[in-house]
Amino acid sequence: MTNEIAADDGHADLSSHDSFVAGAPHLTFRRMRDHDPVAWCEYPAGRGFWSITRYQDIIALNSDPALMSSAQGIRMEDQTHEEYLARRTFQETDPPEHTRIRKLVAKAFSKPVLAGFEEQIRAICTDILDDAIARRELDAVEGIARQLPMRILGRILGTPNEDLEWLVEKGDALIANTDPDFTAHVLDQADTDAYRFMPFRSPAGAELYDYARRMMAKKQASGDTSGVLHLILASDEHGNRISETEFLNFFCLLVAAGNDTTRYSLASAIRSFAHSPAVLDDLGRSEAAVWETAPDEFIRRASPAMYFRRTATRDLELHGRTMRAGDKVLLWFVSGNHDERQFESPFEVDVRRTPNKHLAFGRGGPHVCLGMWLARLEVRVMLQEIARRVAGVEQTGAHAFLRSNFVGGIKRLPVRLRPR
Ligand code: HEM
Repeated sequence: MTNEIAADDGHADLSSHDSFVAGAPHLTFRRMRDHDPVAWCEYPAGRGFWSITRYQDIIALNSDPALMSSAQGIRMEDQTHEEYLARRTFQETDPPEHTRIRKLVAKAFSKPVLAGFEEQIRAICTDILDDAIARRELDAVEGIARQLPMRILGRILGTPNEDLEWLVEKGDALIANTDPDFTAHVLDQADTDAYRFMPFRSPAGAELYDYARRMMAKKQASGDTSGVLHLILASDEHGNRISETEFLNFFCLLVAAGNDTTRYSLASAIRSFAHSPAVLDDLGRSEAAVWETAPDEFIRRASPAMYFRRTATRDLELHGRTMRAGDKVLLWFVSGNHDERQFESPFEVDVRRTPNKHLAFGRGGPHVCLGMWLARLEVRVMLQEIARRVAGVEQTGAHAFLRSNFVGGIKRLPVRLRPR
């Protein structure tokens, strides 16, 4: 069923990654939206935080970076200032510092530049589905959902295909640093102190730095302009350029952010095909216009980037609670995307949902997802190709969610495909 949600007890501990292993604790979020929309949550590993769970509140706070700063970290973990300085990307800065880098990288990820990749994306989807359909029974995450963003990443970065598995493994080790399936350095279980100056407190960050340095040196020596990185490294019309450290951090961010969120959006869509065959049927028979709305609806329902954190820069009152300057404030996009005040039947997948001003890409704020046009394009083309070639998806075993309260997603989904 597309409206299936994990049956948590309504009082899940949001600070614990284990509270998310059966999927996002939606009953807890619903209780918070209804009765405690600015909730104080204890955090055993550090300072507690506020949880904002209603759509309108998230939009309002996210649109005010002067009040809600990204410049002291964007995850719930506490960092010293030194750690922050060593590990931050432009995502962890505020305007005007953020605006300077965002402008330098924006063009490479604009809708028109990315539209030029559609044909390549379709060819890659065809290839992936040829293989998946020939296998009939497979893990849809490994065989389909993980494959597309990984191979696209190669085209976007202009990296050789043989490096992709390695890059994606490192990206997973960064983002999924709380799941033992993806890293040997589980953030809340191992002593990661030695890596505290590295991106995501992970040794994979340092390896990616080295890779990016070597790759760019090679590309520059040979004049290779494949991918979009040369656009990022070029000076703008005022002669501004991205610095080496900014570039290395940006590279790590792309390898991490460009992969798993799109993967988990696709995995969630494939799961809804298995549980609501009518959705797949409908897409297979529908008019072209459905593809203008369907991708965003699958991404809303998946909401893989579950929250981002801000830090209050001054005291403020909301719904009778007082947040103090310096407090950590978590904007739970996954909760806002299922807020009944904003979305009718939010747990249903309605492929024609209009309007659908969902929060999955961080709407309203200066940090709105840089890769959203790429993610939408990848999700659209892959789902179009699945709808064209697959008549039915049957789930053949238990699925599993990532152990993370930050990135939500299905990491294993055994299925049998019935071709058309
Ligand atoms: C369905 C897929 C995706 C989802 C749900 C998603 C979600 C998000 C969200 C919620 C933010 C805002 C963070 C904040 O408010 O602090 C963000 C930022 C960002 N995303 Fe995505 N993302 C996706 C795909 C991608 C892809 C494919 C790329 C790159 C290839 C990408 C690169 C970035 C970058 C670089 C930022 C930081 C932008 C900034 O700080 O100005 N994302 N993403």
